[in-house]
Amino acid sequence: MKPVKITEGVYSLRVNHFNRRLFDSLIPLPEGTSYNAYLVRGSEKTALIDSADPEKAGVLFDYLKDEKKIDYIVSNHAEQDHSGSIPLVLERYPEAKVVTNPKCKELLMTHLHIPADKFLEVKDGDTLSLGGKTLEFIYTPWVHWPETMVTWLREEKCLFSCDFFGSHLAAGELFSEERQVYGPMKRYYAEIMMPFRANIKGHLEKLSKYDISFIAPSHGPVHNNPKFVMDIYRDWAVSEPRNKAVVAYISMHGSTYMLVNRLVSRLQEAGVSVEKLNLDQLDEGRVAMALVDAATIVIGTPTVLAGAHPKAVYAAHLANLLRPKARFVSVIGSFGWGGRAVETIAGLIPNIKAEVLKPVMIKGMPTGADLILIDELAALIVEKHKDLKH
Ligand code: FEO
Repeated sequence: MKPVKITEGVYSLRVNHFNRRLFDSLIPLPEGTSYNAYLVRGSEKTALIDSADPEKAGVLFDYLKDEKKIDYIVSNHAEQDHSGSIPLVLERYPEAKVVTNPKCKELLMTHLHIPADKFLEVKDGDTLSLGGKTLEFIYTPWVHWPETMVTWLREEKCLFSCDFFGSHLAAGELFSEERQVYGPMKRYYAEIMMPFRANIKGHLEKLSKYDISFIAPSHGPVHNNPKFVMDIYRDWAVSEPRNKAVVAYISMHGSTYMLVNRLVSRLQEAGVSVEKLNLDQLDEGRVAMALVDAATIVIGTPTVLAGAHPKAVYAAHLANLLRPKARFVSVIGSFGWGGRAVETIAGLIPNIKAEVLKPVMIKGMPTGADLILIDELAALIVEKHKDLKH
């Protein structure tokens, strides 16, 4: 493998992982992923920006086989998919210094046992000259760990953003294509970044003063269309929710399914966009993506052993962790002889600062009167959404 030139003195060392199907033993990767390191060559010094997952260190070293000297290894983020090969890089280039912020240093020492004397600490706004190439370090904490930062290469207007603006997408092309990357970027944002929307809003403002030509993230292709990338991030992280409802449900004998179908029909007839997600075949990424811009979340669940169905419990817990910007929530479903399904779900979502719309839990198979209650819930959702855009 040969480093791929992005612009003068800047090279991509992308390590594609086409066959990986799960990240963090949790997140489905339908399109694989990549771990991107970058090489910046100045007239005096050479810097490696981040590294690769140690499982794929061999590919990284294949890229580096002709690289005689690395002076700096910039670590933007301590998570092991980017930092895990740094100890191996230090073995091969023992004179190199790991350039990072104090928090990231602490985490790299904890997770990878890198000795303290291997580090060069940088503060927010510090610069490092490589000779005709100047790296500036910009703190962007909580995207998505506390130590995250990005690195700006002034002369080439290139932002090395690590996870920020990334996508789980193993791709052959160097640069992203908008239609191809939109879905993987949204999935990535939803799963990784959405819980930190407030931080992201501030970081987008901080980065708006930089005249960016390239965004080089550590997952997925390089973006040479930074306006597109920043605009969609602003839309996801900052904009109001849309006139959209997510109805995530599971049904055992069809009663909950009848309620769900009635609700979805009534909402769609009234012009509300609906994402109807069957939790029987749960794809955590699909659920997360659906939550990015929905104004209302409705969980549909039957009653199992006096509580909500375990798959509905899992979905509610997941939604709570992701902290979506939904404004309204409700629960619909059925029971045989009693239970506390609504209380179970309500107790699982304290992070979602939303108004609870009156749940509809009915006994057995829905009657005509039960379906009227669903119609009333649909009408309430429509009323609550009346000022929201599509
Ligand atoms: Fe891609 Fe947070 O690591």
